[in-house]
Amino acid sequence: MEIYLKEDQIATKNLSPGLRVYGEKLIIENQLINDSEVETEYRLWNPYRSKLAGALLNGMSKLNLKNDYKILYLGASTGTTVSHISDIIYDGLIYAVEFSPVTMRKLTRLADHRQNIAPILADANKPKNYISLVEKVDFIYCDVAQPNQSGIFMNNINLFLKEEANGLITIKARSIDVSKNPKKVFKEEEKKLINRGFRILEKIKLEPYEKDHLALLVEKIL
Ligand SMILES: C[S@@+](CC[C@H](N)C(=O)[O-])C[C@H]1O[C@@H](n2cnc3c(N)ncnc32)[C@H](O)[C@@H]1O
Repeated sequence: MEIYLKEDQIATKNLSPGLRVYGEKLIIENQLINDSEVETEYRLWNPYRSKLAGALLNGMSKLNLKNDYKILYLGASTGTTVSHISDIIYDGLIYAVEFSPVTMRKLTRLADHRQNIAPILADANKPKNYISLVEKVDFIYCDVAQPNQSGIFMNNINLFLKEEANGLITIKARSIDVSKNPKKVFKEEEKKLINRGFRILEKIKLEPYEKDHLALLVEKIL
């Protein structure tokens, strides 16, 4: 998985050089490749803006997004995290599902500059509505911050994930139950996944970047 360390932070190689997505810092380096100087541009990946960056900085090690992966991303928003995944899977494709039309406008503008993002205006609760648009994928990322988010995640996995592939869900305890102890919410969400035939591969808390959030990397057992 192509992630780089720059200025003590993580970064991805910019697929659309010269363009920032959310005000992130760009770093340009000159490298000698086959005797000619080539300019490479990196984008610093802010863990306070992207939970995936937070999970990686907090030690997630089993995630391996390959450059030709097909990915279904649920809760794409304006594309902050989508854009870094787009840098990583430069030969692949991200089906980016978002249900807010206002947010979708910004996501569509991002996709204008990146051939590997296919924005889909749809409710992730109703995956059959986009079944004709999405092929079987290598990875599903779910960040919808909804009370029924693990149900949304599992239903999409059952329809779209290839066999023996993985998915990642971020769990925001307060979106599920503000009054409950986050630890209890996390245990209950994990149990739902295990009962439906998923194996938890990695469990990473997102503090200090996000309070009371957990990232779970899972695999569907056949
Ligand atoms: C926490 S934000 C996602 C941030 C984004 N993943 C990132 O890191 O850049 C959650 C997003 O999920 C979207 N969302 C919530 N419920 C949804 C649903 N049922 N279907 C599609 N999108 C949904 C919201 O509109 C919001 O943009």
